[in-house]
Amino acid sequence: MASGERLGRTDGSGPGFFLVLEGPEGAGKTTQARAVADYLRAAGRRVVLTREPGGTRLGDRLRDLLLAPVGGEGCAILPETEALLYAAARAEHVRRVVRPALAVGAVVVCDRFVDSSLAYQGGGQGLDLETLRGVQAFATGGLTPDLRVLLDLPVERGLARRLAEPDSVNRIDAAGVAFHRRVLAAYHALVAADPDGWAVVGADRPPEDVAADVRAAVASRLPVGGVAEDVASGGDRAR
Ligand code: TYD
Repeated sequence: MASGERLGRTDGSGPGFFLVLEGPEGAGKTTQARAVADYLRAAGRRVVLTREPGGTRLGDRLRDLLLAPVGGEGCAILPETEALLYAAARAEHVRRVVRPALAVGAVVVCDRFVDSSLAYQGGGQGLDLETLRGVQAFATGGLTPDLRVLLDLPVERGLARRLAEPDSVNRIDAAGVAFHRRVLAAYHALVAADPDGWAVVGADRPPEDVAADVRAAVASRLPVGGVAEDVASGGDRAR
């Protein structure tokens, strides 16, 4: 969509705005999601800050299953199973949190969504993209973001950042550089296929500089202003 005022979503999910942050490991999505949520709240928007996998009780339990390191708490998961578990968490999240928030006009700021499955399970694991898209359509009922921000940085930089924080190393981080290169290439292909749906922000910079570019990308699509009011989670829980 071109810049300017949104006149409401056309897919029946209400007048809100659905912003998704995507990127490879160590891109700083979580920090940036918080920062842009704070900015939007300060500007008077209702904001629901949430993430995938997660955002609901069941989603958080699926998250634990999906991200626990094998050899520790985790068990081996086949790629097909993994894709379905992410999609299951997404189905809960969309219906219990995202759509209800959009319906009351909130801005939903979501740390990862469908494109993470296309990049990680498609690009990274090599599952068929068209099949995966069908699974996503079933999980989301066709809900798509108004804007995705790709926080872009070289794979080695992101992995180095993650490895510097050993507590945050999960099974996906441990998957190897080649896997993460495929993930990043898949993100770039997704952007190239739908350039209007994405803003690409270089993330190998100080967080404040990244945040300024994220704000600018959002402000170019979304009128920022209105009544200050935080909306409660529409489902059973959002971050
Ligand atoms: P998280 O701790 O959120 O990692 P990050 O801070 O890098 O976002 O863990 C989420 C992990 O789950 C991340 O490695 C990507 C992976 N993932 C998928 O593989 N497919 C998906 O659909 C989603 C939502 C996440």
